[in-house]
Parts: sequence; C-alpha cells; structure tokens
Amino acid sequence: MSPTPTPLRLGIAGLGTVGIGVVKIIQAHADLIAARSGRPITITAICARDRHRNRDADLSMYEWEDCARDLARRDDVDVFVELIGGDEGIAREATEIALASGKDVVTANKALLAMHGQALAETAEAAGRVIRFEAAVAGGIPVIKTMTESLAGNRIKRVMGVMNGTCNYILTRMQSAGLPYDTVFEEARQLGYLEADPTLDVGGIDASHKLAILAAIAFGSQPAFDAVEIEGIERVSIDDIERAADMGYRIKLLGVAQMTARGLEQRMSPCLVPCDSPLGQLQGGTNMVVIEGDAVGQIVLRGAGAGEGPTASAVLSDIVEIARGVRLPVFGQPAKTLARPQPARTAVPAAYYIRLTLADKPGALAKVAAVLGDSGISIDRMRQYGHAAGEAPVLIVTHKTTPDAIDHAIEALPRTGVITGEPVELRIEEV
Ligand code: HSE
Repeated sequence: MSPTPTPLRLGIAGLGTVGIGVVKIIQAHADLIAARSGRPITITAICARDRHRNRDADLSMYEWEDCARDLARRDDVDVFVELIGGDEGIAREATEIALASGKDVVTANKALLAMHGQALAETAEAAGRVIRFEAAVAGGIPVIKTMTESLAGNRIKRVMGVMNGTCNYILTRMQSAGLPYDTVFEEARQLGYLEADPTLDVGGIDASHKLAILAAIAFGSQPAFDAVEIEGIERVSIDDIERAADMGYRIKLLGVAQMTARGLEQRMSPCLVPCDSPLGQLQGGTNMVVIEGDAVGQIVLRGAGAGEGPTASAVLSDIVEIARGVRLPVFGQPAKTLARPQPARTAVPAAYYIRLTLADKPGALAKVAAVLGDSGISIDRMRQYGHAAGEAPVLIVTHKTTPDAIDHAIEALPRTGVITGEPVELRIEEV
C-alpha cells in the first residue's frame, strides 16, 4: 500500500469575502483539489477581527486564533494565507512572522507586495519559502501565472490593463446612462463597490499597486509603486465621455507599463481607447489585462477582477501550486537579481484628445491652431459643436506627439484669450 499523502495545512487570516470564499471552495471541492494536488488540503486554524459575525459558512471544525501573528507562528500550519489587506500593520507583521517561522505565504494583498514586495521576496527566498499572490492582480484572471510561467520565454514589450472594476463600472455607467461622475460615484457607494477608502479605487491607487506588481514580473525589476505616475478618474466628465464617443473612443482608467530607452515607464491614467478594441468594449466591473511579448504577440485576458468566487479561485490556484511542490521565485526570477528600475516619465509619443470651449470671435480657431503649431503638434481631426451663449465646444484629435509638447500647448492655450475654462487633454493609447 502506498503511504497516505501528507496534507497541506492552512492557516487563514482574514474571513471577509475572499477568506470565506476560500473556505467554501476547500469545503466544496476537497476531493477534486486533493486529486489535483496529490494530497489533501486542510484548514488548521482561522482568524479574523470578529469571531461572532455571521459568515454564512460552517467554521466550527477549525481552531480559532484571535491574532493573525499567533496564527502565523503555529507549528501545525504549513501555509499562511493572508487575506487581511493593507500594506502595513497586522498584514505585514504576520506575513513576516510566517516567513520567519518557516511557512509559505499565499496572499491577495496587492498593496503589501507593491510597497514591500522586494524586501518580502528577499526574506522568503533567503529562507527557502515562497510567496504566491495570483489573487492580488485582477482577481480571478490568472495573469500572474500567465506572465511568470506561460510567457517565460518572451521579452515583454508592454503590459497594460483595466484593473479596477469599480472605476470601469463608474465610467461605463456614466456613458450608458448619461450620468455625471458624482451621481454614479454615489451609486457605486450604495452598491458597496467602493473600498472603505474610495480614493484607493477612484484615485487609481489600487490599480497602480497591481500595475507595479505586473511591471516587476514583466521587466525583471523591483516593484516600484512610488514610480507609477498616477491620475484617477475624478476629473473625467460626462462631457468628455460623450465627446470621446463621438470621435470613436471610450475612456478607461488604463495602466500601462513599458521599458523605454529612458527607463521604466509606469502610468495609470484615464486614456482614450478605440470603441471597437477589446479594452474599449470592456463593460462594468470586469477587468482586462493585455500583454505583449516579442514571441507570443498580444494576449488579452478578461474576467472578474473582484468578488468572492473569482478571488478565492485565484487564491486556491496558489495553494494547489504549493501543494504540488511547485516553488517559484516570487517575481519570476530570484529577488536578488531584480534590477532597481530607472523610472521614466511618460515619453512615448501618442495621439491626444483635446477639448476646449472656444469664444465665438473671428480668428479664435486660428489662435488655437497657432498654439498647437508652435508646440509642434499637428491636428489629425477636429470637430466644433453648435454655439451656445457665444461659446462652442471644440474637440481636437492630434497626430502622435510627445507629452511635453501637449503640456506646452495646454499651458499656452489659456493665454490666447479665446477659450473659457481649462482645456482638457487625454492621451489616446494605441491598443
Ligand atoms: N476595489 C477593487 C476593484 C477590487 O474595484 O477592482 C480589489 O482590488
């Protein structure tokens, strides 16, 4: 008789949506997971802030810990599953304790990895431990494994994506219902879509944590969240959404990372993408990641970026990987070999969308055209809408130009004396 395989024993810290989702999958699919892993996966102990909250799951067979640090120290736990969240405090401390106590770590914590990923990876690898984090980026989409394993033979040229479902919900709902930002933001709050601190979502921070992690894997660099140029969706107006649609574009909160001659460019900002592109067609809270490799070409991954089932599915993929004995460097190559990235401000030329409100005076448009010409910007398309109260909205789509040229023009335009309000400029990303 062959010996009974040793179970992989989990300690789960954090019993929110994701933690409970993980427990439910382990309970529902115990046999299937054991067959695929070659050994049973069991939960030894669990931990959360409030023991007595009704969680719609039977947790009576697991030992309870009041403190995640104590859970991380237990001798009868092989893998510490960190589903607490936050880049500091208990999540970070308990993760460090787990690694120091000889445990592998599975986490969904993008903030922790974006801010402290390098130090944690070095600690883990020096101790022969692994940290896996499929759920940290784009929820149920298997983008970490795709990049780390499936695309290991490629030089990655660019990785980009819509990685915050709440922002994509807000932008697509504004468009479909013709509603202003503030109204839809409030709707999102009522629906429970927003993080406790909504600036994590609408300020682009959550998505930038994810981008910094993808950039590290893609370009063999240390995660560098501080080097992401971040702009959220707060200044996106319904006017811009509707005018961009007239010109054949959708506005998305798009993260882009690429290695340029000047260094690593990482930016998160509202961008225009063609309506008929996969990114342009992305609706509601769904996420999409687009990866371009020199051998594979372009890959598009689409799926749920949040929620109990999708995120727990990603966590389970990591647990099964560890149970199978697969042990990968945290960011796809040994942490000691990751280069400290040289951050580069966005320099890659692109077409831009400019919206301004023009006074109905002779020569007004000529003055705007002169500013663009003086900035070295060539106009591709232009549309002027009907006048109201002596003013007309004007849209300009430029030929490819540099961000510096656009900054120069946007700064100079108000000095023409023929526009009212601030001109709006948005990059058109080639996708
Ligand atoms: N708040 C995120 C989103 C999910 O809306 O996509 C967690 O990262």
